[in-house]
Amino acid sequence: MPKVISPNIQLFVPFNFDVKTEFLFRPIHYLGSKLRILDFIEKTINEIDPTNGRVIDLFAGSGCVSRKLSLSRPVTSVDIQEYSRVICSALLNPISNLDIIRKLIETCIESPYAKSIFWSIEPLIDFEKTCINEAQISDSTLLCDLLENGSIITYELGNEQNVKNVELFNRIKETLKRLNTLNFIDGPQALSIRYMGGIYFSYYQAAQIDILLHYINEEIAPIYRDTLIAALLGTISDSVNTVGKQFAQPIRPRNSNGLPKPNLWKQVNKDRRLDIFLEFEKWAEKYMSLEQTSDLHSVLKMDYSDALNLIEDDTTIVYADPPYTRDHYSRYYHTLETICLRDNPNVSTMTLNGKKEISRGLYREIRHQSPFCIKSQALPAFQTLISKVHSKNKSLLISYSPFDEKMNSHPRLLSMEQLIQLCKKYFKSVEIKSPGVFSHSKLTRTSKHLHASNNAELLIVCHP
Ligand SMILES: C[S@@+](CC[C@H](N)C(=O)[O-])C[C@H]1O[C@@H](n2cnc3c(N)ncnc32)[C@H](O)[C@@H]1O
Repeated sequence: MPKVISPNIQLFVPFNFDVKTEFLFRPIHYLGSKLRILDFIEKTINEIDPTNGRVIDLFAGSGCVSRKLSLSRPVTSVDIQEYSRVICSALLNPISNLDIIRKLIETCIESPYAKSIFWSIEPLIDFEKTCINEAQISDSTLLCDLLENGSIITYELGNEQNVKNVELFNRIKETLKRLNTLNFIDGPQALSIRYMGGIYFSYYQAAQIDILLHYINEEIAPIYRDTLIAALLGTISDSVNTVGKQFAQPIRPRNSNGLPKPNLWKQVNKDRRLDIFLEFEKWAEKYMSLEQTSDLHSVLKMDYSDALNLIEDDTTIVYADPPYTRDHYSRYYHTLETICLRDNPNVSTMTLNGKKEISRGLYREIRHQSPFCIKSQALPAFQTLISKVHSKNKSLLISYSPFDEKMNSHPRLLSMEQLIQLCKKYFKSVEIKSPGVFSHSKLTRTSKHLHASNNAELLIVCHP
């Protein structure tokens, strides 16, 4: 279909229109994901620009909006996080080779590296089995100890005195001795078992993650890397043993009275019995079944403001779905970032009763702090966004979900009214569109939601 970009230039956009409809693809469980209003977003964008011009998905997150729009127009996905870049790259530029998946799994199961990793973590794998069995039969005390103090990195960082259970203490010590013997501490070889094992995943699953990461990064041709890591992120997101499938808070095994929660073993076993290799295989096949729609898509890992300086000529619309509350996404998804960066990060600490403690969520010390999540910076950040898009003479579509006081949700740092006034300052036409009632994914019924639920999800449409 020839597409007019400017009066003098016509561009042929080679789209594979057969792919116009496909199964709904949820790359990861993501708070605030727009998965349920994809049709509404696409319809609104098609109304603004029937010529199928490029759209910039400026805060791409889980990539579901980018994938949906990529079925009918060129997309540039932007996000500050590496895990988002990896997912968007796998979604927008899919690559298929089922043989690679089969060979990778075979290698993972049989290789000497896999044997070394399993040998190092064996004392804790056995201990975890005992804890779950005991909890199932009679007593969850041991399982509580493991969930509260079973982190290898916390022990490594000098908090071993917190591990009161002698058996657990000795087994972490033995694992660390074995990891040292293998020279697996300073490099990325045992990243997952040290940073995530026992807390977010079973030790066995964490070992499987390390083995996959090793072979994807060290042995597979780089062109497959983003697809396979994206498949691993999908696997991890499905398998993580937390409420809400995010990484802000590991399971709290005890009630407020200090007693183990009833049916704890069930909650733990539900996720920890999943086999990472099997789940990964399904995810990799899913990614590899995606069809390539165009070779015009691009993915940028950068700050929204810098990305707006690079707007391509064929762009017609900027779609913006920034965060609106003081919850930084980097805190909820730090583990996905660590998996992608494989960088042995410092873990953040907090002071409790005058004592420095490792954060329970084992957060990366250096995490992106979004200006959209900081009260004093949110308004200027929106101003930069709106003024830059206006100065480039493009249409702007902003997602907004209003704050509902009854829902115990975190308030928005910018009200709908403030946002609309700001848009009107720059754009000639500002319209509000709503698809009707929509509920965001949420953490739990009682915990604070990152976004209010049961609110109309709104789109603010700005034309120059
Ligand atoms: C509400 S989420 C986007 C959700 C996405 N539309 C989806 O459906 O999955 C907001 C995203 O903005 C990103 N972000 C926050 N501050 C940013 C910045 N300064 N530059 C670029 N991306 C940023 C976060 O990493 C997060 O992925």
